[in-house]
Amino acid sequence: MIFDVLSIFPELFESPLACSILGKARERGLIQVRLRDIRGYADDKHQMTDDRPFGGGEGMVMKPEPMVRAIEAARAESGPARVLLMSPQGRLFDQQMAVELSREPRLILVCGRYEGVDARVAERFVDAEVSIGDYVLTGGELPALVLIDAIARLLPGVLGNECSPLSESFGEPILEYPQYTRPREFRGLTVPDVLLSGNHQIIRRWRRLQALLRTRQRRPDLFARLPLGSEDQTLLARGEAAFSAGAS
Ligand code: ADE
Repeated sequence: MIFDVLSIFPELFESPLACSILGKARERGLIQVRLRDIRGYADDKHQMTDDRPFGGGEGMVMKPEPMVRAIEAARAESGPARVLLMSPQGRLFDQQMAVELSREPRLILVCGRYEGVDARVAERFVDAEVSIGDYVLTGGELPALVLIDAIARLLPGVLGNECSPLSESFGEPILEYPQYTRPREFRGLTVPDVLLSGNHQIIRRWRRLQALLRTRQRRPDLFARLPLGSEDQTLLARGEAAFSAGAS
């Protein structure tokens, strides 16, 4: 999959894209990230990409010409691609959107800076605006990295284990069960006995119950929308007692 990223700070992307899973995915050609500096599309000698807002007010606004030229150059090189503008005014990014976008062959991610972007860019030159949450960051670069990370890990071969993205949080909108590793006891805190039982059926059910309980407690909004199967209902009704010593 190809990501074209348009930013006035392309250097912000270097280390997050070089390390770990994303770094390996790039080395293996599973994703390609092409960084394009919007400043290179400014036409004055100072390469100005921002200006004062019409109507007055604080801060600066990103000028439309360099951004639109950069979008057009990316489009011309990539062929058809969805153009997404990172913006706190956009549609809220979630796992479902990550899955949808992971089916695209190419995405053009446009990063705004300063107080905002000239509204004509969003109105006419992008397909959608995307927000990563109800808070305001200093620019769209971190949001673009969030999208790349969340999308890339869904692509075949990017994670070692082909099955893992589907089985975890938000494939089904439920929180993850708690995980433990060695040592069995850490500062007086022990690992639940059931996980040491070697009984995979019981472990699976215990994990499912933990996921349900966590979701009900921490994310009642998700829990309310969860289609509960009959096993889920039984687990919730019997609760932890079902896993006390000797029970199966
Ligand atoms: N730019 C600034 N804040 C943002 C956010 N929350 N999401 C996407 N782009 C942004």
